[in-house]
Amino acid sequence: MPRVIIANDHGAVELSKRIKAHLEKRGYEVNWLGVKVEERVDYPDMAKLACNEFLKGGYEFGVVNCGTGIGISISANKIPGIRCALIHDLYTAELTKRHNNPNFIAFGGRCNYQDSVEDMIDKFLDTEFEGGRHVERIEKMMNLDKLV
Ligand code: RB5
Repeated sequence: MPRVIIANDHGAVELSKRIKAHLEKRGYEVNWLGVKVEERVDYPDMAKLACNEFLKGGYEFGVVNCGTGIGISISANKIPGIRCALIHDLYTAELTKRHNNPNFIAFGGRCNYQDSVEDMIDKFLDTEFEGGRHVERIEKMMNLDKLV
């Protein structure tokens, strides 16, 4: 069974619960490390928890959520090896998979999206990475943190 890691702060408890249920319906085993009640935690700590667990291996991808998805996605992207896409509609869900092939995706629990997060996740899962010229671009992107 493919595995997914999820973490969130207090701004995305309900959303993370929904995402977990949806991914389980899609046949994923979900390891949910986020807070499950609205108790205040710091999103960088939650990003670190999820990314460190992901980097141990065995996960297809990860999902990180906070109020806007912004703080936790920026935090995740500070961790070498993590490529986190902040998705906000079906278009970005599709294009990020086709072009960026992220290993993490992020959403905001307090955002009013025009598309449902479940639909965005489906679009992401059902889209293939295009490879080709995007492979080199991703490699360049992932090497940026080695620059001084
Ligand atoms: C927490 O109040 C909030 O700042 C956080 O969930 C997130 O939106 C940060 O980007």
